Amino acid sequence: MDFNDFRQAVSKKLNIDLQGYKERQLKRRIDHLMKSQGFDAYEDYYRVLAKDNKQKDVFLDKLTINVSEFFRNKNVFETLENKILPTLLSRKKKLKIWSAACSNGAEPYSVAIILHELTPGVTHTIDATDIDEKMLYAAREGSYRKELLKNVSQERLEKYFQKDNELWSVIPEIKRKVNFKKHDLLRDEYPNGYDLIICRNVTIYFTKETQNRLYRKFWSSLVADGILFIGATESILNYRELRFTKISPWFYQKVALN
Ligand SMILES: C[S@@+](CC[C@H](N)C(=O)[O-])C[C@H]1O[C@@H](n2cnc3c(N)ncnc32)[C@H](O)[C@@H]1O
Repeated sequence: MDFNDFRQAVSKKLNIDLQGYKERQLKRRIDHLMKSQGFDAYEDYYRVLAKDNKQKDVFLDKLTINVSEFFRNKNVFETLENKILPTLLSRKKKLKIWSAACSNGAEPYSVAIILHELTPGVTHTIDATDIDEKMLYAAREGSYRKELLKNVSQERLEKYFQKDNELWSVIPEIKRKVNFKKHDLLRDEYPNGYDLIICRNVTIYFTKETQNRLYRKFWSSLVADGILFIGATESILNYRELRFTKISPWFYQKVALN
């Protein structure tokens, strides 16, 4: 069994789409993981993955890199707070937002905090999804190590978090604002009607074709003039072809069809 046979067999068995991920990067991660679990041959590793739930969890866990933090790339979140959200709010009172591949929830909770301050008392819709159920569980729990809060101001820390031993928990008032749900960006249908879609630091793992497919789907999921917010190290070079305009380096606006 070579890497490609392994990739196909695992995709089928574990019901995931490994074809969409960049091959070299994926192979490097899988080879490393396989060796760390004591296997040298893809065939042996596949056999174990197919029947051992614990190994399956480790595999899925390592495959989906879960790093996230509050207000990740502070300056970009400042643009969101001072420019993008005020523009969207000038058009509409109640926004519908999707944090796609939300990991531990730090990203959608950061947005919930900003909106809570910009529009006190208004109930917006903030959907947050990820493929990884363990991360969704952690996100719903909403308790974080201090390192993940390094970009949270002292004022916000005191207002929106409660300290339980070594962890900082998001207060229920903010937690209630976010709806978490499992969603696989490569396999599931995309919901629609969003004013803002945040998809950061996940498409970097996907092939160019897959990235384009995802951006087209996000286009359809956005309302006319809706905005796509991407990661600080990412850019969409062919944004015109995908019918977006670039409003600042990490924000792309949907160009609606006439
Ligand atoms: C590096 S984290 C990004 C978290 C957050 N968006 C941020 O930028 O801080 C990448 C997340 O993508 C998720 N992910 C990976 N493949 C996915 C897929 N096919 N569909 C949905 N989420 C996926 C992982 O589970 C992980 O939580």
